[in-house]
Amino acid sequence: MWGGRFAEGPSAIMREINASIPFDKALWRQDIAASKAHVAMLGNQGIVTAADAATITSGLDRIAAEYEQDGVPEDWDLEDIHMTTESRLAELIGPVAGRLHTARSRNDQVATDFRLWVREAMEQVDAGLELLQRALVNRAGEHAASIMPGFTHLQTAQPVTLGHHLLAYYEMIRRDRSRFADARARLNECPLGSAALAGTGFPIDRDATAKALGFDGPTGNSLDAVSDRDFALDYLMAAAQCSLHLSRLAEEFIIWASQPFGFVRLPDALSTGSSIMPQKKNPDAAELVRGHAGRIIGCATALMVTMKGLPLAYSKDMQDDKPPVFEAASLLALSIAAMTGMVADSTFRTERMRQAAELGYATATDLADWLVREADVPFREAHHITGAAVKLAESKGAALDALSLEELRAIDPRIDERVFAALSVDASVASRASYGGTAPERVREQVAQARRTLGLA
Ligand code: ARG
Repeated sequence: MWGGRFAEGPSAIMREINASIPFDKALWRQDIAASKAHVAMLGNQGIVTAADAATITSGLDRIAAEYEQDGVPEDWDLEDIHMTTESRLAELIGPVAGRLHTARSRNDQVATDFRLWVREAMEQVDAGLELLQRALVNRAGEHAASIMPGFTHLQTAQPVTLGHHLLAYYEMIRRDRSRFADARARLNECPLGSAALAGTGFPIDRDATAKALGFDGPTGNSLDAVSDRDFALDYLMAAAQCSLHLSRLAEEFIIWASQPFGFVRLPDALSTGSSIMPQKKNPDAAELVRGHAGRIIGCATALMVTMKGLPLAYSKDMQDDKPPVFEAASLLALSIAAMTGMVADSTFRTERMRQAAELGYATATDLADWLVREADVPFREAHHITGAAVKLAESKGAALDALSLEELRAIDPRIDERVFAALSVDASVASRASYGGTAPERVREQVAQARRTLGLA
């Protein structure tokens, strides 16, 4: 392509280190679409003749059909998807192929292709996350009143409802979707026509190519446009944050599925067995979601480090932008699908959850609150009295509401028989009816709201 300037060809090492075709062939659809938009504009502007534009367009269509059918050929000498397509175009239509690259550089070409690819990836993630939200909301609706222990420090804290717990993840995913939507809005400016770095002397119409490719308009600074990868970083950072939510959810399932907890039976379809221990059913899919989050965060870190020292405008380091984005995209899509299946198809063992809440002194705060409300005891003193009651119950291996009234009154005589109504886990969750709280009625409202948001109601 640049033989004019060189006395000898690249060494084998140069060819290998330079070749991006093994991975950037994933951009072929975007590359063809952007080339078609570009050549249509060149034709409309009279920069190439209408006849040449038509020849180039049909050549590009033929190449697209070939790639669709046989895949993209990988010739390291052709470096990347852009050169691969251009050289095939020359084979098909002859020297007129050389007119396609008028008023364009691979620098604005790759920036455009990659934006198109990332835009589509954002849309796919959003669709996957919506399915995950549906699964969460459906299960939350089923379990609006199922009681489980709520934890802080992974120690039993207060009873909550399983529906409330699942809706916590609905909220996280809601924020993830909004981050991807923000990123998409910022991404949607078209670099095409920025050429190598300085713009071009040809009378191009950047509004036309931007519009043809579904962008809101052209980028405003050619130097920035060819060297900006913020859109890829925005995507990766949103992906990283999303992956850590998925990882936390996966971690919950891993813990809940362990025998001492026994809160959930994972779907067989998302579990594996052991080659030696016949009883085992391992949460491998959840563990891999947790593992993949580490890799996705690594992808975001990799591109940040690639970009941080680069002067304007394009440097070849930027060719390394694609592998981390492609890797993160496929890991994230799999993780979302795995967690959607896990939420939708797991069996929640609600009797075990309830029992764990009852045995874990989860209503101790309710006893303290009762003393404040009904006996006008200052909260700090009520906390102390309740601590003594828990200590006694624990020494007897019993639940709080299994203590007799005499035993409770021996700790503090202001306690009377009405206290037992406050000590049940049902009374406890029902009482937490503040907005956003765990009471079944609040959870049902949140489920209804979420169903409206998702278009399910
Ligand atoms: N393959 C390159 C990349 O992915 C695009 C081409 C820019 N090359 C250049 N030598 N200016 O970044």
